[in-house]
Amino acid sequence: MRINPSVLSADFVNMEAALQSISTADAVHVDVMDYHFVPNLTFGPQMVTRIQEVSPVPLDVHLMIENPDRWAVDFAKTGAECVTFHVEATDNPEGVLDQLEELGTKTGISVKPGTPIEPYLPLINRVDQVLVMTVEPGFGGQSFMADVLPKVEAVAREAERLGREIWIQVDGGVAPDTIGLAAKAGANTFVAGSSVFKPGVDPAAAIAELREKAMEASR
Ligand code: DX5
Ligand code: ZN
Repeated sequence: MRINPSVLSADFVNMEAALQSISTADAVHVDVMDYHFVPNLTFGPQMVTRIQEVSPVPLDVHLMIENPDRWAVDFAKTGAECVTFHVEATDNPEGVLDQLEELGTKTGISVKPGTPIEPYLPLINRVDQVLVMTVEPGFGGQSFMADVLPKVEAVAREAERLGREIWIQVDGGVAPDTIGLAAKAGANTFVAGSSVFKPGVDPAAAIAELREKAMEASR
């Protein structure tokens, strides 16, 4: 069970302290937004490179941008462990995967809540991660959408059938009261922003609680 806190909910001007506070996480989730694919704007490759240099854990970069065909490699070159892009943003996901694989970066594909997963199941053969969004991408602090969990189940079934051990990730509204539902559906990698970076909450304690709840649900 992997817990990847999202720094979208951290204090951007105290990023180094935020990163140090999540050293018990499996990776740090970095949300890249471009004002086009989603109505919000965050980090470019220069910032992601600095996060990579300072972070005690590997980077899980989530690209919410148009034209990953053109830009995904820039984020792979930051040294991120894994780069995930949205299938809705490209006509040629396999071409983007080719480029990322060439740089030796782990790869992920992501689907928005309204996007069916079936057409993309064959890609499980070559990706390291499938991200099923459990909110509309763009902002932290939204409510978990349990109705997308059948897509998580479909990914888990297909990965099992193919004998592939991939990261099955959910992102959005993940908190102690929702993580169990996702774990039961077959998710093994959990992004949590506002439930980890919350005033008055110790991020390490929040990570431990999420991990425990996910493990409990999958037993
Ligand atoms: C939303 C981002 C998420 C966000 C999750 O578009 O992809 O990673 O940080 O935030 P919470 O956990 O607050 O829903
Ligand atoms: Zn994200």
